[in-house]
Amino acid sequence: MLLAIIGSQWGDEGKGKVTDIYAENSDIVVRFQGGNNAGHTIVVGDKTYKFHLMPSGAVHKKSLVLGNGVVVDPKVLIEEIEKLKKDGFNPDISISDRANIIMPYHRILDGIEEKMKGALAAGTTRKGIGPCYSDKISRFGIRFSDLLDLEVFRDKLNLIVPIKQKIFDAFGEDVNLNIESIFNEYVSYRAYLKDYIKDTSVFLNNAYDQGKNILMEGAQGTHLDIDHGIYPFTTSSNTNAGGVCTGSGISPKKIDRIVGITKAYTSRVGEGPFPTELLDKEGEYLREKGKEFGTTTGRPRRCGWLDLVLVKYSCLLNNFSGLAITKIDVLTGMKKLKICYAYEYKGKIIHDFPSNMKILSECKPLYAEFEGWEDFDWKKIKDAKSLPTQLQAYTKYIEEQTKTPICMISYGPKRDETLILKDFFRGV
Ligand code: GDP
Ligand code: IMO
Ligand code: MG
Repeated sequence: MLLAIIGSQWGDEGKGKVTDIYAENSDIVVRFQGGNNAGHTIVVGDKTYKFHLMPSGAVHKKSLVLGNGVVVDPKVLIEEIEKLKKDGFNPDISISDRANIIMPYHRILDGIEEKMKGALAAGTTRKGIGPCYSDKISRFGIRFSDLLDLEVFRDKLNLIVPIKQKIFDAFGEDVNLNIESIFNEYVSYRAYLKDYIKDTSVFLNNAYDQGKNILMEGAQGTHLDIDHGIYPFTTSSNTNAGGVCTGSGISPKKIDRIVGITKAYTSRVGEGPFPTELLDKEGEYLREKGKEFGTTTGRPRRCGWLDLVLVKYSCLLNNFSGLAITKIDVLTGMKKLKICYAYEYKGKIIHDFPSNMKILSECKPLYAEFEGWEDFDWKKIKDAKSLPTQLQAYTKYIEEQTKTPICMISYGPKRDETLILKDFFRGV
């Protein structure tokens, strides 16, 4: 059985927490796209884990895979492995021999390009993600299989590094790339990682055929997808369910269930239009109560009301089997709540998320209003029917609008702060 976890908004929906929950009943947890731009948080008791590259099944000691679609910064990966080892884990990780490697010039280029892009800058995490994917697409990338063969690796560096140097020189940047020191640095990473590198497509397909439970952990969110997101303010990979197949070597016919992770309101870190953004005290309240500060960069996240135009479009692209609603506790105590069900643009009602950023920036959200609910004892809640009626009205509206059942409600960062309505792995 294969279950995919996909962010339905702009990232940071709580994918790490939900992955950790489903990981309990899975055998293998896989990252299939993105890189260390992701920041996934898991809270177990008093301990908080923040993973950037490590799949969030690490705490459950599951088999972990970085698929071919991931861009891997080996330094960051080694740091995460070492950190886990200090915490008493010995991560059983496999890295695809087809995954592209983030090189020092990618990180430098990310910063330079962002500065030059002006109004087109997405506000990237500056981890070298975009430049690494650009090199992959233009077939200038270095993959783990190249690193395994030192002759090939050296030949590639000899060819690529002088070209990158020319780019830095043309930009007038004070950067001096040294082939020998890059070679030595990456050879030391190779020594550490070489036993983890394999053909993960074969590994995953064999595991699936043997009846193992595979959990695919999406990074970012559907509206950061390079094709379907708010281009150009997106990331550089396919973050939607389609990315599962291209990023892991698994056929679309093998995806059994897809869960969309949806924060009970909206947040965004980075640039671009945000129709339901709250620039007032309520936005500030959500940011403070929801602790909305970037896991990777520490940047304050922009916050706003739940935007169902965004989520409905994600449902269209991903055909979710269910939605996991997260951070519902953050809304507790607010007197009135709003959910955006459509946009108004120049007198017309828009239901489908626009591709044109100028149009999106002029869209006015149309809201349904809801009564808030007071604090209550979550531990007494065993099913959806015993939730406060106002909260039920809020979640029922989400289900009706998205035509997708809610399979999980998360009301805190910890594992046990979760109401599981349907567990796909156990068929509950
Ligand atoms: P991800 O990138 O989708 O994995 O999400 P992040 O980890 O970047 O951000 C989600 C934040 O919300 C983390 O700090 C989580 O610990 C926290 N979190 C997850 N679920 C809940 C929840 O239901 N309620 C609250 N209050 N916090 C949550
Ligand atoms: P997780 O997995 C939220 C945003 C950046 C920027 C844009 C491009 O934790 O949900 P990049 O560095 O990828 O080139 O940046 O995408 N971004 C994220 N926003 N959560 C993430 O990951 C993100 N990863 C990238 O802020 O606007
Ligand atoms: Mg995050």
